[in-house]
Amino acid sequence: MTDESLVLSTIDGRVAIVTLNRPKALNALSPALIEQLIATLAQLEANDSVRCIVLTGNERSFAAGADIKAMVDATPMEMYRDGAISRWAKIAQCSKPIIAAVSGYAFGGGCELAMMCDMIIASESAQFGQPEINIGVIPGAGGTQRLTRAIGPYRAMEMILTGSTISAQEAFDYGLVNRICPVESYLTEAVKLAARIAEQPPLAVQLAREAVRAAAERTLREGLELELRNFYLLFDTADQKEGMRAFIEKRKPNFTGE
Ligand code: CAA
Repeated sequence: MTDESLVLSTIDGRVAIVTLNRPKALNALSPALIEQLIATLAQLEANDSVRCIVLTGNERSFAAGADIKAMVDATPMEMYRDGAISRWAKIAQCSKPIIAAVSGYAFGGGCELAMMCDMIIASESAQFGQPEINIGVIPGAGGTQRLTRAIGPYRAMEMILTGSTISAQEAFDYGLVNRICPVESYLTEAVKLAARIAEQPPLAVQLAREAVRAAAERTLREGLELELRNFYLLFDTADQKEGMRAFIEKRKPNFTGE
């Protein structure tokens, strides 16, 4: 961990905390920051002791969007060739659960980054928005799709066409965030939640997450088939035998991740 890093990471037991570290630019998501984030997540994916990840920024800003200064003069072909935004998909493809701990601005790509995560814990000062329309573009990292699925087409349309932002309370009321916490404790609450998930049998967590995520992409019939396949598959794990035996023997299960 060095001060020059645009992304910092620490490991606390089975939970990794990944911090966006470009505070002067309100954590604007430059190509270099995104590269470091992708590399950090890849390292954490390869680390078997890490079971859940918390992604955060700082109190003032989770992330104020893609770096406008880095793309103002770009041509479409440069953006395409560099995978300027398409590379971000790797973040959403991380195989471990990620909880976004959001305080301050989650705008544009910052809101999209939070929505790539599996859960969102917000501080009371969090603000969410897709203000790209104000600068002559539209969301490009999933905003039109994920926000619409999260809060419904009418509210999403209003936010995306006007560039208006919503408070933590509105985001909670609309179903975009799991809970709101005081600024002093949003990160520790996110870490506590991550620690609870990290205690669960990891293969069950992975297959459950895959099935829940499929609900946004598949028909009901396909989603149900995937769920059932994953349910059956878990009968091949030691943790299923241990979990069910422990229940019957009235003791706490000792999950090994096998
Ligand atoms: N890109 C580059 N730099 C940014 C930035 C961004 N998205 N957001 C903030 N910054 C920089 C500012 O340029 C400023 O830098 P300087 O000190 O060098 O001038 C610094 O961060 C502090 O910002 P402000 O002075 O603007 O702070 P503020 O408190 O007055 O305003 C804000 C905060 C309302 C978040 C404002 O900074 C803002 O509107 N930012 C842009 C939000 C935005 O439009 N995001 C969408 C980007 S496009 C996108 O994300 C596309 C996509 O879908 C992938």
